[in-house]
Amino acid sequence: VEIFRKDYQPLPMIVSKINMDFSIHEGKTMVHSELYIEGNPAVNLADGTDKDLVLDGDETALKLLSITLNEKELEQGKDYILEPGKLILKNPPPKSVLKTTVEIVPEENTQLSGLYKSDSMYCTQCEAMGFRRITYYPDRPDNMAVFERVRLEASKKDYPVLLANGNLLEEGDLDGDRHFAVWSDPFPKPSYLFCCVAGNLGKIADSFTTSSGRKVDLQLFSEPDNVHKLQYAMDSLKRSMKWDEDVYGLEYDLDLYNIVAVNSFNMGAMENKGLNVFNTAYVLADQATATDTDFERVEGVIGHEYFHNWTGNRVTCRDWFQLTLKEGLTVFRDQEFSGDMNSKAVNRIENVQALRARQFAEDAGPMSHPIRPESYISMDNFYTSTVYNKGAEIIRMYQTLLGKDGFRKGMDLYFERHDGSAVTCDDFLAAMADANGVDLSQFSLWYSTPGTPVVSYSYEYDQPSKKFKLTLTQESKSESGPLHIPISVGLLDKNTGEDVVPTTVLDLKKEKQTFEFENLSGDVVPSILRQFSAPVKLVAASGEQDEEALAFLAARDTDGFNKWEAGQVLFTNLIFQVMDGKDKTASKTWDFVKEAFGRTLNDYDSKDYSIVAYALNLPTESTLAELVDVVDPIAIHKSRGHVKRSLAREFHDDLLKRYKALTDAMSSGEFKVDAESIGQRRLRNICMDYLCSIRETPQEQIAAAALAKNHYESATCMTDKVAALNCLASMDGEGASARDEIIKRFYDEAEGDALVLNKWFSIQAMADLPDILDRVKALKAHPDFTLKNPNRCRSLVGAFSMNSAFHDESGAGYRFIREVLEELDPLNPQISSRLAGSLITWKKYDEERGLLMKTELEKLSKLKPISDDMFEIVSRGLK
Ligand code: ARG
Ligand code: ZN
Repeated sequence: VEIFRKDYQPLPMIVSKINMDFSIHEGKTMVHSELYIEGNPAVNLADGTDKDLVLDGDETALKLLSITLNEKELEQGKDYILEPGKLILKNPPPKSVLKTTVEIVPEENTQLSGLYKSDSMYCTQCEAMGFRRITYYPDRPDNMAVFERVRLEASKKDYPVLLANGNLLEEGDLDGDRHFAVWSDPFPKPSYLFCCVAGNLGKIADSFTTSSGRKVDLQLFSEPDNVHKLQYAMDSLKRSMKWDEDVYGLEYDLDLYNIVAVNSFNMGAMENKGLNVFNTAYVLADQATATDTDFERVEGVIGHEYFHNWTGNRVTCRDWFQLTLKEGLTVFRDQEFSGDMNSKAVNRIENVQALRARQFAEDAGPMSHPIRPESYISMDNFYTSTVYNKGAEIIRMYQTLLGKDGFRKGMDLYFERHDGSAVTCDDFLAAMADANGVDLSQFSLWYSTPGTPVVSYSYEYDQPSKKFKLTLTQESKSESGPLHIPISVGLLDKNTGEDVVPTTVLDLKKEKQTFEFENLSGDVVPSILRQFSAPVKLVAASGEQDEEALAFLAARDTDGFNKWEAGQVLFTNLIFQVMDGKDKTASKTWDFVKEAFGRTLNDYDSKDYSIVAYALNLPTESTLAELVDVVDPIAIHKSRGHVKRSLAREFHDDLLKRYKALTDAMSSGEFKVDAESIGQRRLRNICMDYLCSIRETPQEQIAAAALAKNHYESATCMTDKVAALNCLASMDGEGASARDEIIKRFYDEAEGDALVLNKWFSIQAMADLPDILDRVKALKAHPDFTLKNPNRCRSLVGAFSMNSAFHDESGAGYRFIREVLEELDPLNPQISSRLAGSLITWKKYDEERGLLMKTELEKLSKLKPISDDMFEIVSRGLK
């Protein structure tokens, strides 16, 4: 059934307190719950109106064994009604206590929602609607209750560690190798923040003293074998706690903060109050097994879940349509944190790249939705890049419009008004507006408008009056008229390159607006949409960007983001010219690109190695795909590859020189994950990647393989190993033996480490080889492959769907994915529906391809049974 935002109704009766008792036995767990029910003080119903309490409960997971109200047995059909998905308690008197006992089987819970088993440990995932797979309960975020006593009981030998939210009240031994623990969480919370864990876990411990002097014990748990990989997460946690105090004045509020790493997890991590659960991929990291990107992600996700304690937990969502209230805001906060810990410019480039590759694509396809969706069938389908990443951009725009101080004032008022309650996006906007005395009613349209707005620009400089006029036009996507778009602009003097008008925020509120800059001393080059101040596509009104201006900005813009961006636009132009069959050597664009590339590559003064590296990097295939009306992924792949190889040949000697200089500079240093070391590795690996792209002749193949193999053999960290394997994985001809040798070696050296094996699968799945599909099929049959572990599944199937070879004209790639999805949907619908996203964009492709994709979608739609998640994605795709 489809649920609509407009249909929201508060509960007439609520649960204000709950006690639970879990008795965990192999193959069956008994859950006993006591619900303290009362009338919702916020709802006034006329006397005599029935006030039923609707308890959610997934009948495929729960077996109801007993039910009493105020100690009296209840009669089905009279006192309560069981319907699919719910138990309706008929008109309970206010102040009643409902007791239920259900049996569940975590061992068979392959959906990984509710209480399930991840390898040898029990854990829970309740967001969005997993709690109803544990017990009968009003499983919606506006029901906030105190979880006063949560008792866990299990075998002491197999599950020595028993955890739940809040503080430990009691623990002790019981007869026959059993033991128990009782936890209590003083903060009222919605059921989606509930968590419990039972396992044989190792841990590291530390503490953090908050600014007001509260000593908080910090404990990070994992399987005993992985404990040595928890230190970076611990350091990141302490940095997060400090940062939230410094930047927002927000302190942690319990005496204990626990984090548990689990192997099988559908998403990145979960902010359960006082007991975060993490996908191992986002918490475990060390030099031998994690890349720099992994370290970066660990820090970001640790921050993200920590920041949720205020933006999500203390103030939560009234209903799931408001998801971006906590997710957009918390992503924004984790981005700012990462920017402060590392490099702001690098961070911004990475976040915008991700937004363009994923969110723009989502907005251009059938899953397009506003950051606050209007309806859903399965809420799990709406944990999207739009809600998260575009949501974060909307929050960033508040800060751009109100300034850092104004934004902070708004945050303070938001917490002052709403701490301890479940609220809406409108409440957030009102706090921002009221704290700053501004009208944000037009800005609110961002919450209801889907799609990526297009902003076009044109400009002119009037010599006699020394005036510069910039005209901006927005293509309105909103039915309620134009959006309020902050456009950050700076003007650079054409001759001196000096920033004559520093970054200014223009308020684009009308469909078309002209902004004038006066008293200039000469002609200028505008730098528009600095820092990517709004999630829009910026285009030249004339249809053609002034490449001279772009080259100028790529060399001299004082805004790090736009400097990078100008270079990317030049690369993009060149790649599309090649795709259109133009001879690149005859093009002016090629000259601009060469000039910018050579200057950047040979800039030995800049210590901002990551920025240098990103300036040399070509736009990704998915970013390029977003820029054309009809996508031919193979043609994009070929043209991009062609430009890459041309640059590699043109700059072969410079690339090799830079590669060697970096090798020398890095050889003595110890391993560090600071911005400089990461940047050096990144730049050196990009040089290798360009050099390895030259392999037309057998001699070149031998040279490329030797370079990458040597890179691998001398690597002292996972980042460099992965970079080398990435190059080798696509080698053929004379490079094939080195490829096979290092693939095998990487596998052996992984020694069964799950996260390293994921890399081994995904690098091979993304390789550029003619028989790639056969290879992927062989990997699917590999003993280490399983569809049951989401990380493993994504590392092969998800990675292959990103390979341009997935779009092979034969349609074999599409067929393969559909077959996998048929197998996966009955096991884990959240993951199957995610992967089905690779087929729903069929309208973006040429007719033949589109038809092949659609055919597979149609087959999927006939799947019986089909999960709600899959049904929703496939139906949207076929509409
Ligand atoms: N709230 C979690 C986070 O942002 C994500 C949980 C999503 N879970 C899901 N089943 N859709 O970190
Ligand atoms: Zn989140």
